[in-house]
Amino acid sequence: MLKRLFSKKEIEEAVQRLASRIEKDFENKEIIFVCLLKGSFIFTSDLVRHIKNPSIIDFMRVSSYGKGTQSKGAITITKDLEEDIQGKNVILVEDIIDSGLTLKYIRDMLMAKEPKSLKICALVDKRARRVVEVEGDYVGFTIEDGFIVGYGIDYAERYRNLPDIYVIEE
Ligand code: IMP
Ligand code: MG
Repeated sequence: MLKRLFSKKEIEEAVQRLASRIEKDFENKEIIFVCLLKGSFIFTSDLVRHIKNPSIIDFMRVSSYGKGTQSKGAITITKDLEEDIQGKNVILVEDIIDSGLTLKYIRDMLMAKEPKSLKICALVDKRARRVVEVEGDYVGFTIEDGFIVGYGIDYAERYRNLPDIYVIEE
């Protein structure tokens, strides 16, 4: 059963808040947004449309082994960046930080390419579930626990198309 957690309007407000902070922090400098597929495709597309900085959008897809509701920490890149990020201001856009394993892996990998700066923008942070140290620089919502779907976020590839965010309940 799906129970609504964040409405379309609440999400819009959160996205706008994040966009304003990013604009302020980057003062018209160019930003490369790295959209982590598939979960952040809607979030990224809304976010970048609120940001007036000169921007480049690139995409990456990684998969963690296993189809469960938990990352295992073994991560492979199935679609790599196309842009050269060396010396650039990069913002990694992620749907959810859960254990942090996915982001830590990607962050370390991107840092090796020597960007000028690398920030993390996450729509939802499940802080209490973190197993490795990784912080979101720009976070839309913080939740305790629960498996969420909608607004690009899936359960077994379903529900990405829902405009609101729901928590799955037994
Ligand atoms: P982590 O590596 O444990 O931080 O997992 C992060 C990834 O797991 C996210 O990018 C999501 O794809 C997925 N994930 C974590 N929690 C949820 C959830 O509640 N709903 C859907 N996907 C989730
Ligand atoms: Mg994901």
